[in-house]
Amino acid sequence: MELAERIRQVAREAEEALMACDDPGELEALRVKYLGRKGALTLLLREIGKLPPEERPEAGRAGSEAKRRLEGLLEEKREALAKKAKRRALDVTLPGRRPPLGKRHPLTQIIDEIVDIFRGMGFEVVEGPEIETEYHNFDALNTPPDHPARDLHDTFYVEDGRLLRTHTSPVQIRVMESRRPPLRIISPGRCYRNDTPDATHSPIFHQVEGLYVDKDVSFADLKGVIAAFARQMFGPDVKVRFRPDFFPFTEPSAEYSFSCVFCKGKGCRVCKYTGWLEISGAGMVDPEVFKNVGYDPEEYTGFAFGMGVERLAMLKYGITDIRLFLENDLRFLEQF
Ligand code: DAH
Repeated sequence: MELAERIRQVAREAEEALMACDDPGELEALRVKYLGRKGALTLLLREIGKLPPEERPEAGRAGSEAKRRLEGLLEEKREALAKKAKRRALDVTLPGRRPPLGKRHPLTQIIDEIVDIFRGMGFEVVEGPEIETEYHNFDALNTPPDHPARDLHDTFYVEDGRLLRTHTSPVQIRVMESRRPPLRIISPGRCYRNDTPDATHSPIFHQVEGLYVDKDVSFADLKGVIAAFARQMFGPDVKVRFRPDFFPFTEPSAEYSFSCVFCKGKGCRVCKYTGWLEISGAGMVDPEVFKNVGYDPEEYTGFAFGMGVERLAMLKYGITDIRLFLENDLRFLEQF
């Protein structure tokens, strides 16, 4: 048989084998068998040179045609098999991978909880600026210029004379300046004090301010609201205690405590064996404050209270170091 015809025959045989092939290993074996260094087609192609010159062109054409065809087919088949293998590797019966879920920061969770409780009692949420005027943070709250709270050591001042608010109480002033009673607001937010950080002090912390102004609001209303809050936050058995205290913007003023949520008031390390945990301050809005915002103290009375968010979160979750809230350590944050 002529060489050209033998080439075409081997090529047909190779083509059939390639078409039927269904396995990458087998495909490679076929490549070696026909196109490898000692492959059937390779050996035939080598014989072309030995032909008499007049027979070479036809055999040459048949050879390059066969080689091009087989190489193309081989490549096609390789791709098809690879695709198929990929599809097989996807096991649709496997359970899906869980995408990592974000969570709210524990302080945000506590603030949301506090806000929900007060909303349920008819309070409205109002926010104020973190960069405050000295007037709103101190003067209007009846805190005279020589009061120790105004000391440079406690307050971060901004170059233009404003300051980073040291508490959320200035929001009381902003609300009363712009609205008339009745008012029932709470104001959660960030506060700043130039304190050295330790287990219970952080230069950045959060408070929730509360203010209730109307005709005939009494200290008994204040006690009722704080007690209702305490029970919703820490359970029906928690007790509330008020003791005399002093704040420039309330008269009378009180410090309020909850019975220790850890030992139920029996006495333990957290409550320093007193059975009580101090939460924050409260009182009846001082008439001087009402005068500063243009309310008539003969017509209206009101109460105000503060609340330390970190303190409540530490009690709720049993956290012993306030610095953990700002360190953004995922091992801490993922627990909430
Ligand atoms: N602003 C006070 C503080 O930072 C807390 C406070 C005390 C707020 C008494 C009040 C209040 O509204 O009546 O310690």
